Amino acid sequence: MSTTTIYQKRRAAVARALKAAGGGIALLPTAREYPRNRDTDFPYRHDSYFYYLTGFDEPEAWLAIEASGKTTLFCRPKDLEREIWDGIRLGPKAAPAQLGVDAAFSTDALDDKMPALLTNQKSVWFPFATHEGLGARVDGWLDKVRARVRLGDEPPPIQHDLCVVLDEMRLFKDSHEIAILRRAGKISAGAHVRAMQTSAAMLRKPVKGGLREYHLEAELLHEFRRHGSQFPAYTSIVAAGANACVLHYRAGDAELKAGELCLIDAGCELDGYASDITRTFPADGKFTPAQRRLYDIVVESQYAAVKATKLGKRFNDPHEAALRVLVEGMLDTGLLPKAKHGKVDDVLESGAYRQFYMHRTSHWMGMDVHDCGDYTEPGSKPRADKDAMGQPIMRKPSRILRPGMVLTIEPGLYVRPGKNVPKEFWNIGIRIEDDALVTAKGCELMTRGVPVDGDEIEALMAG
Ligand code: GLY
Ligand code: MN
Ligand code: MN
Repeated sequence: MSTTTIYQKRRAAVARALKAAGGGIALLPTAREYPRNRDTDFPYRHDSYFYYLTGFDEPEAWLAIEASGKTTLFCRPKDLEREIWDGIRLGPKAAPAQLGVDAAFSTDALDDKMPALLTNQKSVWFPFATHEGLGARVDGWLDKVRARVRLGDEPPPIQHDLCVVLDEMRLFKDSHEIAILRRAGKISAGAHVRAMQTSAAMLRKPVKGGLREYHLEAELLHEFRRHGSQFPAYTSIVAAGANACVLHYRAGDAELKAGELCLIDAGCELDGYASDITRTFPADGKFTPAQRRLYDIVVESQYAAVKATKLGKRFNDPHEAALRVLVEGMLDTGLLPKAKHGKVDDVLESGAYRQFYMHRTSHWMGMDVHDCGDYTEPGSKPRADKDAMGQPIMRKPSRILRPGMVLTIEPGLYVRPGKNVPKEFWNIGIRIEDDALVTAKGCELMTRGVPVDGDEIEALMAG
């Protein structure tokens, strides 16, 4: 299928959703450009929803889809002067053939054309609370329609959040998306391999100033970019030693020392799709016994979660499977003394594990690293559950896993120094994260081009 057809099919699905809701029109802008300082902008990144429906990555563009299936694009006009400085623009004349839309106009015509497009529509759909000022812009167009009400022109009386439709579509990845996600996962895995090997090599042959977190970040970025990735999917985390216990640590300038672990959480974005990998490895290539003990618990917990990632299981099942293994490990190693904390079920009930494992095991992943999609099962009834702090609440059961969903599996253990914490484990932070595609039979880990097994990591780094 040509790429244009893929986006046309997605737009047709939106039109069907509007039709099923009684008719209407959907409006969607792409992302703004953001200034970084003076006349320099941050690198431009399109809006994920907009790109999902168009494959078009120029700024200042808008899309309108009507329930009838008619699609209208607004894009920057051709402008020789601007194109000399900033690059070629597609322009409205070429847009229909290139993007498969029915009509295209210059963005300059938005305020003229939008009121007409909105006139006498049953409803208007646009993303709520995602684009600053969008609601006010739509209000302005609706006001223009309202001003003609005595002529029989009426504004749509109902507004819907377009994200509700698009989030559900994006949750299920099609074959085009899966192919890109696989490639992104492969590139990122290669980058992790490169970082591990560089770490060991630089500690074997020490350099002046030592091995720093930013050296490994540079290896990651080099590998992402040289395989065509446009950006990192999120700010890379390269955390030496105790820094690994800071969940959102950024790659900094701390020194990586032999005998310490390094945690890298980094993934590239490729053609609009993310990858998200974490590996934890000994900076010099050899785990200490205490590190290996905790490391193997996290590996085992990840395997338990992987087993629970399949058609028919729920989104929470991998988390619960991983958590049980982690808690067993916390009790076996004395991180949580059995005499005080009891058995696994007691710890799960008390929540004492949160001292060492304080985040969830998964999130959806796709165009956005923390991708959209309902985490609870649509149409189900709320039932008694517990919130993150163990307090009773009513909520809908978590989402049933189905083929095409993509989620991360990322258990960890983070041991900050503490009075009753065995000293041998202090400052060890470990996380292992892979990206899983739910399939009919189980799940496919798209990021296993970099090893997870402790012996395999040591062998790779010994090379
Ligand atoms: N890298 C962000 C996350 O793992 O969720
Ligand atoms: Mn993640
Ligand atoms: Mn991550």
